[in-house]
Amino acid sequence: MTLKDGQDRKHDYLRISVTDRCNLRCIYCMGEDGIEQSSHETILSYEEIMKVVSAGAELGISKIRITGGEPLVRKNLVELVRMIAQVPGISDLAMTTNGTLLPRYAADLKKAGLDRVNISLDTLQADKYRKITRCGSLDEAMKGIEAALEHNLEPVKLNTVLIKGINDDEVLDFLHLALEKPLHIRFIEYMQIGDHDRAYSGHYLPLSFIEETAKKADLPLTPVPLPGGAGPAESYNIPGGRGTIGLIHPISKHFCESCNRLRLTAEGSLKACLYWQDEKPVRPVLHNKEALQNLIREVLAGKPVEHQMAANGKCGTVSPGTMRGMSKTGG
Ligand code: 5AD
Ligand code: SF4
Repeated sequence: MTLKDGQDRKHDYLRISVTDRCNLRCIYCMGEDGIEQSSHETILSYEEIMKVVSAGAELGISKIRITGGEPLVRKNLVELVRMIAQVPGISDLAMTTNGTLLPRYAADLKKAGLDRVNISLDTLQADKYRKITRCGSLDEAMKGIEAALEHNLEPVKLNTVLIKGINDDEVLDFLHLALEKPLHIRFIEYMQIGDHDRAYSGHYLPLSFIEETAKKADLPLTPVPLPGGAGPAESYNIPGGRGTIGLIHPISKHFCESCNRLRLTAEGSLKACLYWQDEKPVRPVLHNKEALQNLIREVLAGKPVEHQMAANGKCGTVSPGTMRGMSKTGG
């Protein structure tokens, strides 16, 4: 079965935020004191999440990503992975994580049916890692990356948000990492999302900066097919490299026309677009599969043509974007 939105875009990808909590406090994601956390009762239970997964799979969802917050801070996450992996029709099950808890969970996650992980890593310097995450340890994140490789949660992708004045001096170090290790480094443009815009101002840098830096250093980026299937990243390899480089530029070159994703927030709302405020709660229809499937179709029918991230805060913004931070929406 094929699930389409109002613009005839095929949708086969559901991203599920399982918690808005996190053991880190990245500057572009949360305020210093974290976020106002949702209470345990408002967060969807695993049973509730599974109803959405099953209903979605029948409609044509085949790819699932578990995200957060930090998914691995939620209790018994391995159980949820096991349940999702067994749903007929789900052929790709991935997770976005900061990696710090992977040394503990990677083996069990793989056994439970997780195919692969994306690990957030914005710097290769310990002091800077602490500054960006406000409390994290680079050593733990690196051990998490090693654990992911060791347990074949592959392709292992790294998400690196390019932050002007903070990690733009490390682009070459990341390119070298992709030369040396089978890691797929995806640079992401800093998005002005959520209500902590002060961190954003002055720190956005378009990803053309990566291409220019690679060129200057004589490390030509050659386009290659995406590792692990389609997605918004433009993918490149560096001759002789074991990994690849991906560029995800939601702002300077948005990819809305090929968007195939639907989101389920930790509190149980379906969101067709990361950016806009529109969302519909699933709880009222969870008891009835048909009603739930109609809600999924309805949310997709009303999916906006595109986001307005490039216009946010400038004249011409039609309506404000979401004030919900990434940890609440699911990155
Ligand atoms: N801009 C760009 N990327 C972001 N992420 C979180 N907040 C932002 C933002 N404001 C990314 C993190 C993580 C993923 C879940 O989303 O790097 O890898
Ligand atoms: Fe946690 Fe990820 Fe947000 Fe960083 S970006 S605070 S690791 S949820």
